[in-house]
Amino acid sequence: MNRSRVYPAAAIACLVVLGMLSAETQPKAEKAKDETAVTLFDADPAHPWNRLYQFLYVPIGNEIGGSECRGADARRQEPFLLHNAAYDKAVRMLDAFLQSKDDERVKDPVKRALLQRDLWYAFDSLGEIPYPGERGIHEEPTQRRRALQKRLAQLMRRLEQPASRLKALPDNYGLTVKKGTYPAKFDAEHPERPYLPADLRLDDKSDWVIVRAASTDLSAPAHNLFVEGKSVFLTLLRLPGPRKKTEDYLADMPEDRGKKGFQPLPDGSQVALVRRMLLPDDKGELRPTPLIEDVRLRIFSKRREQHAYEFTLARGGLLSGRSALWARGGDELNCKVCHKPEDGVFSLNTFGFGMTQGYHGAARTNLTEQVNGTVNLKKQSYSWGLLQGLRETTP
Ligand code: HEC
Repeated sequence: MNRSRVYPAAAIACLVVLGMLSAETQPKAEKAKDETAVTLFDADPAHPWNRLYQFLYVPIGNEIGGSECRGADARRQEPFLLHNAAYDKAVRMLDAFLQSKDDERVKDPVKRALLQRDLWYAFDSLGEIPYPGERGIHEEPTQRRRALQKRLAQLMRRLEQPASRLKALPDNYGLTVKKGTYPAKFDAEHPERPYLPADLRLDDKSDWVIVRAASTDLSAPAHNLFVEGKSVFLTLLRLPGPRKKTEDYLADMPEDRGKKGFQPLPDGSQVALVRRMLLPDDKGELRPTPLIEDVRLRIFSKRREQHAYEFTLARGGLLSGRSALWARGGDELNCKVCHKPEDGVFSLNTFGFGMTQGYHGAARTNLTEQVNGTVNLKKQSYSWGLLQGLRETTP
């Protein structure tokens, strides 16, 4: 696969901007964190799991649902974990955690999966910058990065679970729909109410069809790159009516560039971008889990008007049996920057519109293809090789 074609510069620039936008909101999140002690993994805020999570992550929202890895910003913004004080504290905390075998204090497979995932993000964020154009802008010594990564890899190794247990993790999307926390049908009278479709399934019979650009293997390559392959991203299209309607629409899309020959999307059409959690199992193999980390939706309600929604995995809600997805607020949603409502079908970046590579046809794909494609790409990455190397030398 040709990387430069798959990962268009414009999309990367856009997503980096997105990263910067979320960094700007950090002080607010920081304040919220000070006011709310983390009791995610245990009722005691002083529990080592809570303390490690609180140290590595900036909880977002009152749900402690989302989680912005502080380390993640190290690459592009503040090298938080590499600062003297933070670095020393991180080493101390991780050493103490490893020595007292705090990993054994929590047995719940969901909690173990969540902490493993959080450590993985911290691990990758300490790696080298994945985008060639940005290399060399940070000067922190590699030694510090590796010292932290070694400890994180050891801890991740201890949290690994068998593939069968990862497969049995809860379907937080299905659980949220069942709870009825959000309307399952779009209400044109109340577009401000976050709507979570009950019929969104990822199988081959679903009325939602998983799509990709004909010229790329991955459904959402720009998002995949942004998280360096730690999640599977799926773009889904759903026209009103049965699956066949969407399949026919896709089949009728022109094969090559030029804006001619496109049928407008009928009113009520919907697109989704679903992000599904991947995790390494106890054999070191990457496995898809049923956990949905994020869902973005756009609905073409009428006359090229679009309504946008975003739902994020609610850790607190998932662990306490409340709603396992939380809706991000309206003001936070800055979707129009990259998806112009009046553009109709041409607002679908997945197909290459508005991207440097341009449109080269649309295709159908499926979950298996997308999981395999993501895993294969991740396995070729430097960060994965490094994790494997450190994992193997773990006693
Ligand atoms: C910084 C630019 C950017 C912003 C802001 C953005 N997106 Fe996207 N979005 C993209 C790109 C690029 C893709 C194509 C998928 C890929 O390659 O990863 C995409 C794909 C999607 C898709 C799949 C269908 C399609 O259009 O291709 C949905 C649904 C979506 N985004 C929803 C949203 C929502 C909802 C918001 C606001 C919360 C949002 N997006 C904000 C860049 C953006």
